[in-house]
Amino acid sequence: TRRAVIRGVGHYLPERVVPNAYFEETLDTSDEWIRARTGIERRHFAAEGQTTSDMAARAADIALVNAGLKASDIDAIIVATSTADLTFPSAATMVQAKIGMKHGFAFDVQAVCAGFIFAMTNANALIVSGQAERVLVIGAETFSRIMDWTDRTTCVLFGDGAGALVLESQEGAGTPQDRGILATDLNSDGRFKDLLYVDGGVSTQSTGYLRMEGNQVFRHAVTKLAATAKAALDKAGLTATDVDWIVPHQANIRIIEGTAKKMNLPMSKVVVTVQDHGNTSAASIPLAMSVGRANGQIKDGDLVVTEAIGGGLAWGAVALRW
Ligand code: ACO
Repeated sequence: TRRAVIRGVGHYLPERVVPNAYFEETLDTSDEWIRARTGIERRHFAAEGQTTSDMAARAADIALVNAGLKASDIDAIIVATSTADLTFPSAATMVQAKIGMKHGFAFDVQAVCAGFIFAMTNANALIVSGQAERVLVIGAETFSRIMDWTDRTTCVLFGDGAGALVLESQEGAGTPQDRGILATDLNSDGRFKDLLYVDGGVSTQSTGYLRMEGNQVFRHAVTKLAATAKAALDKAGLTATDVDWIVPHQANIRIIEGTAKKMNLPMSKVVVTVQDHGNTSAASIPLAMSVGRANGQIKDGDLVVTEAIGGGLAWGAVALRW
């Protein structure tokens, strides 16, 4: 059986760190409110002129070093983002040029905060079907560019950054004990568009800002995330008791805790970075994976379930053995 296994991981965060107190200067908000309601303490914001493809390329270079590979060893790049540098070309082809890759192919995937789950699923399909041996899967965002800085209900929540995984094909017995992506589960329901969207875009001839009915998104999140995580584990022939680590999308500590509780798993099995990164949308999962590996939480052979929900609504999960 041909499987996509993780060969390397890396991340990049822009230098500028913005603590919650920064927002107290301009908005009717407080560090206490933001910490208590979201778990966020600080986030990184890109520098002026620093773009999504810049950060994505930095993360990709670090993941390649971690994998012991060069850009010339990669067949394809998939970037999950909702904040590409330009309307076109894709951020992925810009990353391709920036890391010095002159062959293969690159494209973007857009599923907002669930983007990395959709990108991993696409990369897995390319590898399992034999169309690629090695795929760089990147999540990268500059959500600071689509914030309405007068809206305290959204602008305190998001941050910028990038994370990357190198996936590689490997032949094996195909059991749940073998390494690699074991199962994926994707979902979307466009009827929920109004809960989370940017009120502008190319065909509406405007730029737009992020708009969110946060408490309504919250209501969908825990149920849908626990269900998609269970679906991915079911497909892999596993249950929650087999899970070593949940790597959730980092939107809100209360959603993360609620999902773990619904899955009957303790918080000691959850990688949490929301306090340091805020919600970095499609970048949050590879960022959390990279941090979780660097600090020794996720070990070789661990069963990881990763899940996310975001605008669309779109949501999904991947079960994998690291
Ligand atoms: N500071 C102080 N008060 C605030 C702030 C703030 N920054 N933001 C909102 N409030 C106020 C509200 O105005 C409201 O006041 P009111 O009662 O006088 O009307 C009160 O706090 C409660 O507001 P709620 O929205 O009900 O607060 P809630 O506990 O739901 O927390 C939050 C809001 C943090 C947005 C939460 O709902 C959440 O995390 N939702 C999910 C977000 C998410 O997961 N998004 C999906 C991924 S993102 C993507 O796909 C791009």
